[in-house]
Amino acid sequence: MTSSSARPARPSDAPATPTPTAAASGRASGKAILLGEHAVVYRRPALAIPLSALQVRADVQRSTGPSILHSALYDGPLAAAPARLGPTAMAAAAALEAVGAGHESIELRIESNLPAERGVGSSAAVAAAVVRAVAAAFGVALDAAAEHELIQRAERVAHVSPSGLDAHAVRAGAPIWFEDGAVSPVAVAAPLTFVIADSGVAGRTREAVAGVRARRDADPTGTTALLDELGELTRDARRHLAAGDARSLGVLMDRGHAALDLLGVGDPVLDELVATARAHSAWGAKLTGGGRGGCILALTRDHDSAADVAGALRAAGAAATWTTTVEATT
Ligand code: MEV
Repeated sequence: MTSSSARPARPSDAPATPTPTAAASGRASGKAILLGEHAVVYRRPALAIPLSALQVRADVQRSTGPSILHSALYDGPLAAAPARLGPTAMAAAAALEAVGAGHESIELRIESNLPAERGVGSSAAVAAAVVRAVAAAFGVALDAAAEHELIQRAERVAHVSPSGLDAHAVRAGAPIWFEDGAVSPVAVAAPLTFVIADSGVAGRTREAVAGVRARRDADPTGTTALLDELGELTRDARRHLAAGDARSLGVLMDRGHAALDLLGVGDPVLDELVATARAHSAWGAKLTGGGRGGCILALTRDHDSAADVAGALRAAGAAATWTTTVEATT
C-alpha cells in the first residue's frame, strides 16, 4: 500500500522528468514461510503467509544537501549508515535511480515493528516500503515487476542470492505460492490461526543459506533428497490448505522442521519452542525463515488455544509472540 500527496501517478517504466511531491509514504508487512524455505533457493516451491501485525512504514520527503535517514537503528546521513543498513541504502538509491531522480536528495524516515534478523522479512519489508515511498514521492507508479526487482537489489545486499520469495511475500497481503520465480494465490478452505514466536536469537540467513550450499557441495545426494522432501511437503501443504485439513497441515510442519534441522539450519532454542508449542496442543510447529535463530511458526486449533500456545511460548523464553489468522478464501 502506498500513499502520496495528490499528484497523478505516472505510467510504469516512464521515469522521464520526476515531479516531486511534498512527502509520501510506503508500507509493507512482515511474512512467515509456512513451508519451503531454503528449498526455494533450489527451485522447489514455497508457501508464505502475511503477518499483518508487523508493519513497516517509510516516509520520504525531497530535501537538499545529503540524503538523511531517521530510524530506530541509525539517525544521520544515508551515505554514512552502518553496514547492516546497506540493504536500506541500496533500496533508496535504486528506487531514486529507477524514478529518474538519481541525483536528488531525500529525507527518509522508517518506522517498523518488525524485529530485524528474525526470519519475518524485515529486510525485504523495509526495502519494499522505501521503494514505494520514493516512487510515490516522485509521482512515479512502478509496476509490480519493477518494484520486485528494486527490492531484490536490496535483498542481494542482505542475502547475496535471495530466491525472491521474501520480496513477493512482504507485498502480497495474502498467502502466496512461489515457484519458478512466479507467485500465485493459495486456496484456503478454513481459517487457520498461527502463533509466531521470536526466539530472541538473531537469525543468520546469509550464513544459513551458505551452510546449505556447503552441505550440498559436500553431500549432493543427501542434500538433494532433503530439498526434494521439503518440496513435496510444500505441495502436500497446498492440498491440505485447499481441503481445510489443519491437522494434516500441522503434521507436515513438524516434518518440515525435522528436514530443516537435518539441512543444518536448526537451533536448540528453536527446537525447544517447537516442542513447547506441540505440548500445548498446536497441530504442528516449525522454524520459519532462514533459521539458526529467528522465529518459529505454530499452527493452533483456534483462537483460545492460540492464546494458550502464545503464553506457553513466552513462559518458555520467547522474546515476543504474535498471533495471525489466515482467512478462508472460499
Ligand atoms: C529467507 O526468509 C528464506 C530463504 O529461503 C532464503 C531465500 O528464499 O532467499 C532461507
